[in-house]
Amino acid sequence: MDAIRVRGNGPLSGRIPVGGAKNAALPILCATLLSDGASLLRNVPGLRDIETTSALLRFLGRDVAVAAPEVRVSAASGPIRPEAPYELVRQMRASVLVLGPLVARHGRAKVSLPGGCAIGARPIDQHIRGLEALGATIRVEHGYVVAEAPRLKGAEIVFDLPTVTGTENLMMAAALAKGRTTLVNCAREPEVEELGRVLNKMGAKVEGAGTDIIVIHGADALDPFDHAIISDRIEAGTFMAAVGAAGGDVLLEHAPIDDLEPVIVKMRQAGVEVERDGEHMRVRRVKPLRAVDVTTAPHPGFPTDMQAQFMAMMCVAEGQSVLTETIFENRFMHVPELCRMGADIDTRGHTAFVTGVKGLSGASVMATDLRASASLVIAGLVAEGDTIVRRVYHLDRGYEHIEKKLAGVGADIARVPLEGMP
Ligand code: EPZ
Repeated sequence: MDAIRVRGNGPLSGRIPVGGAKNAALPILCATLLSDGASLLRNVPGLRDIETTSALLRFLGRDVAVAAPEVRVSAASGPIRPEAPYELVRQMRASVLVLGPLVARHGRAKVSLPGGCAIGARPIDQHIRGLEALGATIRVEHGYVVAEAPRLKGAEIVFDLPTVTGTENLMMAAALAKGRTTLVNCAREPEVEELGRVLNKMGAKVEGAGTDIIVIHGADALDPFDHAIISDRIEAGTFMAAVGAAGGDVLLEHAPIDDLEPVIVKMRQAGVEVERDGEHMRVRRVKPLRAVDVTTAPHPGFPTDMQAQFMAMMCVAEGQSVLTETIFENRFMHVPELCRMGADIDTRGHTAFVTGVKGLSGASVMATDLRASASLVIAGLVAEGDTIVRRVYHLDRGYEHIEKKLAGVGADIARVPLEGMP
């Protein structure tokens, strides 16, 4: 079991490569189930969630070769076992993304209910109601969703609220349904748009992915694909927050600047300079940080996946910032840990009042979820003394070599064995 030790070491400078988007790679890996052919995914980050999804595809009956940044899913060689067990699904909720492809391609799917996670209950009622609208019969029994349909039929579906994986699940199911499907009130995240590109490469006809209305004309069969995944806007945003907090001048290579508009606006308001540099993004902070209010919202609002990292930055800004989390019910678990480092944060319900302090002090802290872990690392970059972040397996789910990338721009950070840590 490892930990990450980070020590405040002044401003950052240099270049950081931004990897492929985890939350695009996961649905696209599941989309390989819609075709029997061999598919190739490029620019895939080397993450635990990618390994977990690959293990799930193997369990279902596909051969998967992971050699980051490439993942090859082989042609189907035998029958698919359309069952995703609790043991795998509980490790990663996004496993629910095999539900749509399996019932669309094989007429049956038995997928463990993901259960809640640290940040919230994470129901999948919208996924289930959408599949029923496409003609699937759904039973929920013994903690599993069992979906069956000889052939899905196109339908008109309105989501009660924008759901990223709900939209993605139904796009994939509709891609093999008979006739036309209209999805209304869709999630508009860039990763949803990317899935639409891949489904079109496979021979589906998807219009409007990335907007709130998506029309899918189902195909009778879909082809395999070769696709390079878009860059990860949340990884890039996390490094923006690191520069904002520690100061400095860093070039984020291949950062998806066009997908980061809401984050860039708030960063600039806080005193962080952001500018395009070819296909890269330059991030500088030399002036004192200013407190800025943020309310998370579905894209193109400020991403909930950036809330914890932005909060870490606001801990050392001048003034008070008000951060409101509207997407998940329990996404402030980084707050008590940041307070142990000397941050001044008062939470009332889904709102955190962050009063900037002159400096933070290093402490031994506990990661609780993926983005909370990143916020603790960012806080450690500006804390006096050592910060030991435990349970770094949370970080490894969504960040590839974060300690190496930060050390490469001057941070005093390393992965250390936990044994013997204070
Ligand atoms: C995706 O999760 C992302 N994961 C999350 O990133 C991200 O935080 C989230 O979207 C919001 O942007 C992947 O893409 C793999 P939702 P998802 O369905 O799809 C409610 C990370 O850090 N809801 O958009 O599970 C739900 O409770 C992860 O990389 C229902 O009520 O999120 C939440 O309040 C964390 N019923 C809201 O919708 C449903 O059927 C948005 O959730 C589905 C969702």
